[in-house]
Amino acid sequence: MNIEKIISELTLEEKASLCSGRSVWNTVEVDRLGIKSIMMTDGPHGLRRQPEGDEQTGMFVSVPSTCFPPASLSACSFDRELLHEMGEALGEECVAENVRILLGPGANIKRSPLCGRNFEYFSEDPYLAGEMAAAHIQGVQSKGVGTSLKHFAANSQETRRFCSDSRMDERTLNEIYLPAFKKAVTDAQPATIMCSYNLLNGEYVSQNHYLLTETLRDKWGFEGVVVSDWGAVFERVKSLAAGLELEMPGSCDDNDKKIVDAVRAGLLSEDVLDLAVRRLLTLLERIGGDGTTVVFDKEKHNELAKKIAAESMVLLKNNGILPLKQDADIVFIGDFAQSPRYQGAGSSQVNPIKMTSALEAAGNYNNVRFCKGYDTGNCEQAETLLEAEAVAAARDADVCVLFVGLTPEYESEGFDREHMRLPGGHNSLIEAVAAVNPNVVVVLHNGSPVEMPWADKTAAILEAYLGGQAGGDAVVDILFGKQNPCGKLAESFPKKLSDNPSFLYYFGERDVTEYREGIFVGYRYYDTKDMDVLFPFGHGLSYTTFGYSNLVLSASSIKDTDTLTVTVDVTNTGSVPGKEIVQLYVGAAYKDSWVIRAEKELKGFQKVLLQPGETKTVTFALDKSAFAYYNTGLHDWHVMTGPYRIQIGRSSRDIALTAQVDVVSTVPIRFKADVNTTFGDILRLEGGKEFIEELWERFPQFVQPPEDSEPGTIEYMSYKSQFEMVPRSVLAFDTSGMTLDQFQQMLDEKINK
Ligand code: BGC
Repeated sequence: MNIEKIISELTLEEKASLCSGRSVWNTVEVDRLGIKSIMMTDGPHGLRRQPEGDEQTGMFVSVPSTCFPPASLSACSFDRELLHEMGEALGEECVAENVRILLGPGANIKRSPLCGRNFEYFSEDPYLAGEMAAAHIQGVQSKGVGTSLKHFAANSQETRRFCSDSRMDERTLNEIYLPAFKKAVTDAQPATIMCSYNLLNGEYVSQNHYLLTETLRDKWGFEGVVVSDWGAVFERVKSLAAGLELEMPGSCDDNDKKIVDAVRAGLLSEDVLDLAVRRLLTLLERIGGDGTTVVFDKEKHNELAKKIAAESMVLLKNNGILPLKQDADIVFIGDFAQSPRYQGAGSSQVNPIKMTSALEAAGNYNNVRFCKGYDTGNCEQAETLLEAEAVAAARDADVCVLFVGLTPEYESEGFDREHMRLPGGHNSLIEAVAAVNPNVVVVLHNGSPVEMPWADKTAAILEAYLGGQAGGDAVVDILFGKQNPCGKLAESFPKKLSDNPSFLYYFGERDVTEYREGIFVGYRYYDTKDMDVLFPFGHGLSYTTFGYSNLVLSASSIKDTDTLTVTVDVTNTGSVPGKEIVQLYVGAAYKDSWVIRAEKELKGFQKVLLQPGETKTVTFALDKSAFAYYNTGLHDWHVMTGPYRIQIGRSSRDIALTAQVDVVSTVPIRFKADVNTTFGDILRLEGGKEFIEELWERFPQFVQPPEDSEPGTIEYMSYKSQFEMVPRSVLAFDTSGMTLDQFQQMLDEKINK
């Protein structure tokens, strides 16, 4: 395609028309110049491809496609290869259906368990979310089709999703809400990125130049096209100038006309429009395809969906009752056992090719009975008769497996949850069954954490999340030990909703939501506060056990431009093969009044398969990003000089080994010292130490380091407290006659030179 020639031959009207969709899912074609229309479709965990001409028939009518587990489950695999494989399969299905862009994945951060759309997002942790998103994108795009990384950015609630203004400071934005997008863009170059509905700090994201151009293109080098979320455009001309190339769906030509008028009136440079068209044509060239379709192997994709579910589900608790004994008398209780909730509600809803419930999957085990327990149509109140029947069946069973969770009425795109509880009827059922039988195994189907007031009364809890079309097979394989569970939580489960750091501010005030908890999202908050949680980030049990040894760092001191290599040995100390997710966290081991840090941050993970008795060495490479925080003065990442903890753990709360490394910054923070700068800060500047030493000699009111003095003595207290003082306050008591101007001059000569 000769893009420049095409641009020169397009009329102004044609150029503008290319910047919005022709229909709900298609772009505009210009036949005379050979510009073809392409189709895009939701995403992210399967195709919601609506039949041609049926675009308006609603969410439930779409061509059958494999329903893979949504992101809240697949992220718990902590498995980049698996996400890549899922992406490849999705890519194949796109090619088969002539879909050129699959809308997803979603890399938004789970700020609160209440977000109605958490099932579509990977994690509360930006590093994990970024790794998963990048692998997903690379997989899909390896088949020649595109993705649309969404919803960019700072979109962590459904309440007022079209008009809520996410207000946060620059550090929080850059440390928590942007890195997953950055990672996905820099590692995987998604063909498109979908801007979100909300505003960021007072400006609609769809017309936010800072996000769409300065950050996305100038800083991260994004090469694709920015697409609006469906209906996210407000002022079209402004959004085009800010960097939004494609408005979706079509805008009934009204916005195209506004673009034409603005160019004609000299309010918008035609170069801006040309740039957008150039990017759109480049996209078509990259992922437009040649019209050939393939047939994919449905059974293979079903097997993959099962594998992903089985390797992601998280065994939260087990007193040894699992795996179940094949000859035990088992009763499956709960409607979800026969009609599971297997995906989230809203635009990501896939029409699955096939569906296997746990009950069907358990067909091979002839000692499994079933009791409905509740009716999915009405879960809030206990169904007295169904519950009584379940209790009666539970009394004489060896094991009761209870299938409970959230229905779409409790959790969906388009609105947020009101609380973190299970439906009242489900809680009541668990309590009633646990009262007559101690061998209760709870299987949860939900897209986001729930409170578990009954946790202590159960023998085991399996967090199955929303398992996709083969989730039932995966659950049964785990219950009976055919699959050794190996998923770990990609989010913390607080004991109660009010423990969550965003609790006081989450819904905001009218259209304004302030992210006041700042960088303290998820385990960054719970771990720094040392607060009890129900299940920590990274937690997940196995039917085997793992031992850790030989944590070795390649150096005890590095510069922030160096790479630190970390190795650790992991051994399967149990009797069955199993996979362990080795997690590496980094935490500042210093306390510093310059920068507030979280106690630890995930900076690496690897999943390893180990046979009983087998040991493998796992290697991590840590660069500056493992130690840095975002400095708002530099508008860039910066490392504080100091000691850092390297922690290897089974979860954020189960740290097996710790080592320490000193990191030296190569980027000194420069500022001008003045008479209001603390002596502590002056001490950090070049020449500061000598300057302070001179003061000790010259002025009697300065306190020299006391000899042999311990914290807790008056001498030590005076010595320490002078570093919190500023020259202005000291000179107020000075009898030497030195003025503030003279002191400033001294600072300028010795420090600010
Ligand atoms: C959702 C997007 C989705 C789009 C198209 C929007 O409402 O936020 O995630 O891709 O609709 O269905």
